[in-house]
Amino acid sequence: MEYLINGGQKLYGSVEVECAKNAYLPILAATILCDGDTMLDRLDIIDVENMLAILQVLGVKVRKEKGITIDSGEAKSVLIPTKLTSSLRASILCLGALLGRFHFARITYPGGCDIGLRPINLHIKCMQELGVEIEESHGVLNCDSTKLHGGVVVLDYASVGVTENLILLTVLGKENVTLINVAREPEVVDLCLFLNSCGANIVGAGSSEIRIFPVRKLTGVGYSVMKDRIVAGTFLLAGAITGGEIEVCGLNPNFFTSLIKKLCQTGCFLDVKGDKIRLKSNNALISVGFLETNVYPAFPTDLQPQFLALQTLCRGECLVRENIFEGRFKFVHELIKLGARVVVCGNVAIVTGVDSLMGAEVVAPDLRGGAALVLAGLAARGYTRISQAELILRGYENFEQKLISLGADIKLI
Ligand code: EPZ
Repeated sequence: MEYLINGGQKLYGSVEVECAKNAYLPILAATILCDGDTMLDRLDIIDVENMLAILQVLGVKVRKEKGITIDSGEAKSVLIPTKLTSSLRASILCLGALLGRFHFARITYPGGCDIGLRPINLHIKCMQELGVEIEESHGVLNCDSTKLHGGVVVLDYASVGVTENLILLTVLGKENVTLINVAREPEVVDLCLFLNSCGANIVGAGSSEIRIFPVRKLTGVGYSVMKDRIVAGTFLLAGAITGGEIEVCGLNPNFFTSLIKKLCQTGCFLDVKGDKIRLKSNNALISVGFLETNVYPAFPTDLQPQFLALQTLCRGECLVRENIFEGRFKFVHELIKLGARVVVCGNVAIVTGVDSLMGAEVVAPDLRGGAALVLAGLAARGYTRISQAELILRGYENFEQKLISLGADIKLI
């Protein structure tokens, strides 16, 4: 699939953002632990389709109406086909949930965006510290948590996935667990809010220490997953790069502190009222000079490519350091085809602003790098064709329709 963009239009208007992919996926995994029905709003993106396919292989019943209803009553712990586990990183979260409910699981290595090695060594190490026995044979991890025990686990790194997996592993355990140096991302908080509304007893979500007091059962509920802060940030950056004016609503502005600060430094005007964030760009944006990604609440790695695309049209030089994923600059090679001036050395990119970008044929290397190329194409003069657009559809629902409603000339072919 390809996006065909005729760039140069300023984007104006308000965007209703969909549910957060990175909250929705762990919540889908969590439904494996629940008795009865869980009802969620729809989120029609490829990663959710693949996660629902995984649940159905496990015997989970999925009904799609206006929302979706998930019933794990007849779920069983079986080996998930590699084709599915390799389609998305979040498949690894099924391990924690399957062990939490069935005390044994077999799983192959997860896949996901090609933004780095993405090992699961920390997942394995922390689970073993809680008594899980894991042995690998022929690429399959055979896991047994019958000897699961409580205690304190200090994470070497505040990994989002490891934090979520350990919560899913222990929420129905036997003994109290304290997790230290956990991820503080809002999506982790949303998972814990969901689990607590199902009857769990999890304390401290959003801080760097989470305590899990096990309960005997969880009962499915109707739940409104939080809105996607990365999608919202992408649209604000689309407004900035095209010189327009964009408003996003339905989100907690506290999730955007680092992005708002950086956008103000470029000369954009940001106005925050309640759950609405409005951005007014200008035609003489300046470089922010320095940007680095890190765990929440620092600047999110998932917005680094989109922000770097903006910097290519800001006056001055910007050093961008990517501290989370070692392979997250692949899209820069494609940006340069559009006329951007960027030099990459390891996990640092130096961006020198240019007056304009020119449309070209480019290839989306991954989800967020692809989104960055869309933003650059919207600002470039002339036509930009972006192939492998299916990678972008993994995390953006109705992306081109939303952009068209803001005035973009874009087609998905
Ligand atoms: C989650 O990935 C998100 N995905 C990512 O979003 C996001 O970029 C990332 O968190 C950081 O915020 C989902 O939630 C489905 P990590 P995850 O474990 O859990 C290393 C997007 O575009 N690491 O915090 O995989 C890892 O290699 C995606 O929506 C190990 O070395 O992120 C990486 O360098 C991309 N060993 C760093 O930690 C491990 O066992 C951060 O990974 C686990 C992680």
